[in-house]
Amino acid sequence: MVSSPVPSRTSQFGETQRRDSWWLELLPVIILFGGFGIYATLRAFEGKLYEWGPYLSPFYSPLIDPDHHWLPRFFSPALLILGAPLGFRTTCYYYRKAYYRAFFLDPPACTVGEPGFRKNYKGETRFPFILQNIHRYFLYLAILFLCFLWYDVYKAFDFGGKFGIGLGTAIMFVNVCLLTLYTFSCHSLRHIVGGKLDCFSCATFGIPRHSAWSFLTILNERHMLFAWASLVSVGFTDFYIRMLASGAFKDFRLL
Ligand code: FES
Repeated sequence: MVSSPVPSRTSQFGETQRRDSWWLELLPVIILFGGFGIYATLRAFEGKLYEWGPYLSPFYSPLIDPDHHWLPRFFSPALLILGAPLGFRTTCYYYRKAYYRAFFLDPPACTVGEPGFRKNYKGETRFPFILQNIHRYFLYLAILFLCFLWYDVYKAFDFGGKFGIGLGTAIMFVNVCLLTLYTFSCHSLRHIVGGKLDCFSCATFGIPRHSAWSFLTILNERHMLFAWASLVSVGFTDFYIRMLASGAFKDFRLL
């Protein structure tokens, strides 16, 4: 008789028949997501060194009241806007899976016993996790924020009224491309465009919606890749601009 690899309700925490090093999958999530969370929090509260020449850090875009006309001196402009990108990432379907496993160990991995405290677990049907369902609204905000970020890239070609390309321009451009790929590979967007339809030929604009859905499906299959690549790129873009603003780096002019 072959026993099921799926842990039963009475399984002990960590109990599994898996023989591979399943826990290794948790480490990159803890290091990258945890490290990014700490860095982004520190930078958001820092409230300075967020622009240099034509470059603006993505953590501070759109930049609101940088001269503190109505914003208290101690209040960083990043804190006004942080909720949108943060909410989009933390409610992302992929990241949810990743951090539920890595930080809550719930479950630690496929077919590995969960902690005992989840006896009354109601999934995402009860507060607070039911709030994860507002992801699609964060998607709308993320698309709006992408417009600001693309505008920042446009401005990053302007060196005192003259067209130019610096290393910072290239870094900002790559970053916004990765953020765009991450946003447009979103599960919610794919669902809205066509995933919820049973019959494309019966729906209004069915043919173009099918084409758009097919394209978004290709992106969606790579959502995890775009999630990590854009996380690293947005952190690195901010870091590079901070280093320029502090005088630690010099920008390399490509053109
Ligand atoms: S599912 Fe990941 S951004 Fe929407």
